[in-house]
Amino acid sequence: MAHKQRLSRYMIFVVTIACLGGLLFGYHTAIISGALIFLSPIFHLSVAEQGVLVSIILLGALAGALMGGYLADRLGRKWTIMLTAVLFILGSWITAESHFYFMLLFGRVVSGIAVGVISVTAPLYLAEIAPPNRRGAIVSAYQLFITLGILGAYVINYIYAKKADWQEMFIIGSLPAAIQLLALFFTPESPGWLFKNGKSRLAIIVLERLRLDRDWKSHIDEMKHSASSRNKRAWKLLFSSKLRNILFIGLFISAFQQITGINTIIYYAPRIFQGAGYTSAISATFATLSIGVINVLATLVSVWLLDRIGRRRLLLIGIAGMVVSLCSLAVTSFLRSSLIDEMAVISLMTYVAFFAIGLGPITWVLLSEIYPLKVRGKAMTLATFVNWLCNYFVSLTFPNLLVSIGIGGSFLLYGIISIIAFWFVLRYVPETKGKSLEEIEQILQK
Ligand code: BGC
Repeated sequence: MAHKQRLSRYMIFVVTIACLGGLLFGYHTAIISGALIFLSPIFHLSVAEQGVLVSIILLGALAGALMGGYLADRLGRKWTIMLTAVLFILGSWITAESHFYFMLLFGRVVSGIAVGVISVTAPLYLAEIAPPNRRGAIVSAYQLFITLGILGAYVINYIYAKKADWQEMFIIGSLPAAIQLLALFFTPESPGWLFKNGKSRLAIIVLERLRLDRDWKSHIDEMKHSASSRNKRAWKLLFSSKLRNILFIGLFISAFQQITGINTIIYYAPRIFQGAGYTSAISATFATLSIGVINVLATLVSVWLLDRIGRRRLLLIGIAGMVVSLCSLAVTSFLRSSLIDEMAVISLMTYVAFFAIGLGPITWVLLSEIYPLKVRGKAMTLATFVNWLCNYFVSLTFPNLLVSIGIGGSFLLYGIISIIAFWFVLRYVPETKGKSLEEIEQILQK
């Protein structure tokens, strides 16, 4: 195996700028829970209208995910990321300037499209510029930025709970996008895309600037090998018997990331904490902040461990921890007593921590590395679309689940789904640590 390569300063700069997309993804999906408190009375929103306002970003993201791969293949990864930065700025301003409900919805859809497009393009770009033995850390840094974005939104929700300026809450979301937009002028196009579009000389210059010296050969060989593939052929290939299994591994992992229930906590945490006894809005928001911090810290642990102990083992540890946490959450809420509420809060926190170690980052790492370059854009589009679809489904059904089977029953259900996810990883997901994208292709085809 190739030894660890030091990342150049330029590489770190490029990775950080691409990861800002993750920050924007996290911020824009999580800011609404706090803003809603003010929007509801100002715009006289019914319960149904509130539900639509919260979930419409997910519909935008679904549409964006569908466009993401096409745009990234057509315009290039870099220009697509630039486009999302513009959309994030527009979405924030439209929402902030809204005078009526439909304008609010429109602003949120624009932000949602940006979220969907970036969730395909950023991991794609990162995997294509990363040396194999650093790919885990580099792609999971994107997840770290998602968690930072969520934490940022929770902090703003907390600060603005007293200040009550909902417009500023959205405008703040355009700042990282403006920084990213400017900085992107100083970052290169992905060498993978350049090779694929016949710009080999430029691709080699980029590889040289990124100082990917040790891994050059495998990068160049792989990229040249797939440079000739055409669009239609790529779709056909993706569903051919050769790649079908790989496609489904990605789709299932992507679905499991959502249907094991993480966003019931990320989006509904204050409400759940109120149910557990943190009755004032301030204390519930504060407890939510601690969820945000744990999410960031545990993701950091995962970034550090991914290229050391491997994806598969970490994923299994993470899911096993989720199963235990979810079951103890279910049991404590079936048994109810005052101590039990504390137990419930602790289980919630360990659940988030184990998600952040495993399914959170590793989903995006696997998606970006299990598909061969010639079908990568399309396969990631499908897998990310499935991710947003399951996210939408879970967010939509959770309030009804709460009413029909209670919090204990709901988490038991997510616990059972997590057991199935564990079995799936054990049976089907291979170790991909340190392998070149081409080696991974060969392993998966067996
Ligand atoms: C998921 C999001 C989730 C976030 C939580 C991401 O990987 O795709 O749906 O909100 O992790 O940290």
